[in-house]
Parts: sequence; structure tokens; C-alpha cells
Amino acid sequence: MNQVNKTSQNREIPDVPPDTHVNEGVITPPTDRELQQICEIINTNLGFNYNAQKRYLIESRLNKRLTQLGITNYGDYLSLLKEEPLEERILYEYLTTNVTSFFREPAQFEYLTSTLLPKITAAKKEKKIRCWSAGCSSGEEAYSLAIILTEALGAAWDIKVLATDINGEMLQVGMAGEYTEEAVSNIPLKWRDKYFIPQIVAENKRYRVVPALRQKVIFRLMNLLSTQDLPPHIRVDLIFCRNVFIYLNTEARRKVLNHFHRRLRNGGYLFLGHSETINVPTKADPVNVGAVVTDSNPWLYQGKSIYRKGIDENKVE
Ligand SMILES: C[S@@+](CC[C@H](N)C(=O)[O-])C[C@H]1O[C@@H](n2cnc3c(N)ncnc32)[C@H](O)[C@@H]1O
Repeated sequence: MNQVNKTSQNREIPDVPPDTHVNEGVITPPTDRELQQICEIINTNLGFNYNAQKRYLIESRLNKRLTQLGITNYGDYLSLLKEEPLEERILYEYLTTNVTSFFREPAQFEYLTSTLLPKITAAKKEKKIRCWSAGCSSGEEAYSLAIILTEALGAAWDIKVLATDINGEMLQVGMAGEYTEEAVSNIPLKWRDKYFIPQIVAENKRYRVVPALRQKVIFRLMNLLSTQDLPPHIRVDLIFCRNVFIYLNTEARRKVLNHFHRRLRNGGYLFLGHSETINVPTKADPVNVGAVVTDSNPWLYQGKSIYRKGIDENKVE
């Protein structure tokens, strides 16, 4: 499946069906039990909150996969999932929502440039900055961040953005760094001309990220719930995890937040989506037993859905 088809396939789909029927009669709809089994796979492995209310979303996306495989009922598809471990990866590609864009939520990028970067860079001994776009989808967020950092810090700085996602097909798009004219339309023109090369691919105009910027972004397939997927020594200054928490259940959010807290340097920043917040864990809260957050290094709210990891004076990093 090519980039255009896949991207449009995973646009937001309402939970409630419109008047038209999803199933054109070829595929038998999943029974309640089969639907529950699909939800369990997704919830256990990705930390989602899918349930029977997502029937329309699940059917409208997975029927395409069943058709592709020549399977006409969900019982056979569930058997395939048991026999063929790779199919689970493909299931994730169909059931994650990957909507993204360049410079999404621009107020956060402006705040990063005007207020946070001067503070971060002033405190640095080395001209080196490390960032993580966690749940990066097809890479637009990671490249936006790389552009902002390159513009603000200049060539003397060693800039790296780790871009991770569970959706391998979206990561391929990010690695190729090739975007449609529509996708690049909200990049300021001076940056589009500086960081993208226009080209014609199969009679369509595309914009390819220039090699110098591509080299600053490293894409990796990673489940945010598998905390051991990152080498233990990796620490970052900024984490962007925007529009991912909305899909995660409470336990998964807690796990991911603790993971982020360990991976951020003291004084580092976590950016969430504009509708997302964290419930600040406290030692007294039994839900947060095992949390690494302590009184001396809590999450400090900065406004604009941005949190700072408090500075633990006892820990030198
Ligand atoms: C709506 S997109 C957000 C993209 C980008 N951060 C933004 O705000 O524009 C959410 C992304 O999170 C990824 N995702 C969801 N659950 C995940 C998990 N458990 N591990 C890794 N990635 C996950 C999805 O595959 C999807 O690409």
C-alpha cells in the first residue's frame, strides 16, 4: 500500500457509524466475542482502551485487511493472528490513528524557540541536544523539531531527534522523508525551500527532506510500553509525545510517564497534545507505586501542555 492510500486510510473515523453500512456483505461482521478478542490484543499490547463502542472503527479498517487476505470472517482472521506473529504488527498498522502534520500546534514550537531553548542551551556544557518524538507517525513532528532546532541553534550544534512509533508503515514514510504538496503546505515557505527538494514522483509533485536534515532524525520501530526497547544510557532534553495519550488507558499512561521521567535529563521538557494532561503522580497515590517521581523532581507544569522534569539536586547528569 502506498503512502497516500495508507495515510488517508487512517484518518479519524467516528465511533458511531453514518447511515451507510461498512460491510458490503462479503465479510461476516465480527461476533461480540471476536470483537472483544481484537480489542484485547490491542489493549494488552498497545495500552489502548478499545471496547465494543469501537466496533465501527475496527470493522471499517479491518475489513480492508480481511479483503486483502481473502478472508471472509473474523474467526479465521483471529486464527491467523495466533499462527502468524507478524500479522499482529499489521493489525497495529490498521488500528492506530496516524493523523499528523508539520508544525502542528504551532504555539508550542514558538514557546520552545522563544522561551525554552535559550534556557536549555545556556545550561549546556556541550553543544549537543537530544530529543525524542514518541509516537511520531510519518515523521512530520520529528522533522519540524529538527528544523526549529537547526534554525535556533545553528550548524555548530550536534542535533539528534529520535523518532519512534509502533506503526512500521508510517515509519517508512518518515524514513523516505518524501511528502505531498498538501503535507508541506503549512511549512513557512522560506523553510520549505531550504529544507525540501521538490521532485516529480509518478507524475505527482513531492517534496523530499534534504539529506542534512534527514541525518538528524533517526527512526525506530518501538512500542512505548516496552521500556527496554531503548538502550539504558539514552537520556534526552525534550520529549514530544503529542496526541498519543488520548488513545492510552490509565495504566499505560502511568507506565509511559514513568518511562519518560527516567529518560529525560533533569530539567528536561515533555510536550503533550493540547487536549492532554498528566495526573501528577505522588508518593501517597497507590496507583503510582514504583513511580520514579519524587518530591525533589516532580513534573512541573509550564503551560501549553508542556511539563518540566524537576531538577533533582542530588543527581548530577
Ligand atoms: C495521532 S498520531 C500523533 C502523531 C504526532 N505525535 C502528532 O501529534 O502529530 C499517534 C501515533 O502514536 C502511535 N502510537 C500509539 N500507540 C503507541 C504505542 N503504544 N507505542 C508506540 N506508538 C504508538 C500511533 O501509531 C500513531 O502514529
